Amino acid sequence: MDKKLKVAIIGLGRISGRHLNAYKTENLAEIVAVCDIKKDRADKIANEYNAKAYYNYEEMLDSEKLDAVHICLPHYLHVPASVYAIERGVNVISEKPMSIDYESALKTVELAKSKGVLYGLILQNRYNGATKFVKNALNSGKLGKIISARSLVTWYRSDEYYSSSDWSGTWEKEGGGVLINQAIHTLDLANYMIDSEFDILSASMANRNHKNIEVEDVFEGLITYKNGVKHIFYFTNNYGCSEPVEVKLYCENGKVTFDYDKAAIVYNDKSVEEFNEPQNFVEIDGKDYWGRQHFTQINQFYKACLKLEDLEITGEEGLKTHKLVCELYKTAKENYNK
Ligand SMILES: NC(=O)c1ccc[n+]([C@@H]2O[C@H](COP(=O)([O-])OP(=O)(O)OC[C@H]3O[C@@H](n4cnc5c(N)ncnc54)[C@H](O)[C@@H]3O)[C@@H](O)[C@H]2O)c1
Repeated sequence: MDKKLKVAIIGLGRISGRHLNAYKTENLAEIVAVCDIKKDRADKIANEYNAKAYYNYEEMLDSEKLDAVHICLPHYLHVPASVYAIERGVNVISEKPMSIDYESALKTVELAKSKGVLYGLILQNRYNGATKFVKNALNSGKLGKIISARSLVTWYRSDEYYSSSDWSGTWEKEGGGVLINQAIHTLDLANYMIDSEFDILSASMANRNHKNIEVEDVFEGLITYKNGVKHIFYFTNNYGCSEPVEVKLYCENGKVTFDYDKAAIVYNDKSVEEFNEPQNFVEIDGKDYWGRQHFTQINQFYKACLKLEDLEITGEEGLKTHKLVCELYKTAKENYNK
């Protein structure tokens, strides 16, 4: 590849390693700048990646000639940083969630469209082998229609997880708890399979076990979609460890179960189709991470920036699950116990 994209990363915390290292797999981009308000963090990473350090993203976006920027910031900053980049003609790949409300996410997507700039949203689990296996089976028509769905996230987040940052656990900066941060991926996978607009929502949330935060650590409910599918879900950060998530689909011709790396389809005639390719943990910068799907998605975004492919997970696509998340919060806030 002759032309390499000039990219920058804003926010150099826990997730940034996956964004910083994605260029290594396909060599489509070079990291020319990095930005964090924590100067020591920005300086250290700039040094490692031979990039320029910035401590203010506006200054970086005004000074550098960038093709794309990765937004790895606390949730409440996703929109302002994305908008600042889009207005300067820079393509954006943002970490989930798009925003902490629906309207600003919608405006960001519309702005990107009007400026002819790409806006991609990280939903890396759409690239899991098990996700593709189930989606292909549904598309083939062999399973018939989905009748109902069940999704479960039973994870653990300690008090220290929340107290170690100034934004986690707050409505103002995180925008919610287990739903908008952890379970958003699983909700998105179920939504992606059901592939319909939602219709009626019934949901409740609670904070049962994290007295040091104001947002929910449990979210459960029922979504009825316009295509008739009923989706029950239960998400919590209170289990003692983080178990694999689970999505089940009850279809006209069989039942499907899948998580991040395994899937099984049992047809009504008792025949079985399975997918089982453990992605295992990969080491990036001395830390263990689940799978390589960030890399796959980021390189797909780079190819779209280079006009080699169409962008797969667009803002419009991201808005589908984001709208649902925001409406679920509106529904559940009526009876919130904290
Ligand atoms: N896709 C996934 O599976 C996944 C996993 C973890 C986190 N995330 C997402 O990644 C994002 C970041 O999460 P994290 O866990 O890395 O958070 P973090 O708190 O570890 O890192 C955020 C970084 O942003 C910096 N920052 C804050 N304000 C800034 C500003 N105005 N300008 C520049 N830098 C600023 C902080 O100093 C910090 O280094 C969140 O949206 C989170 O939901 C996604």
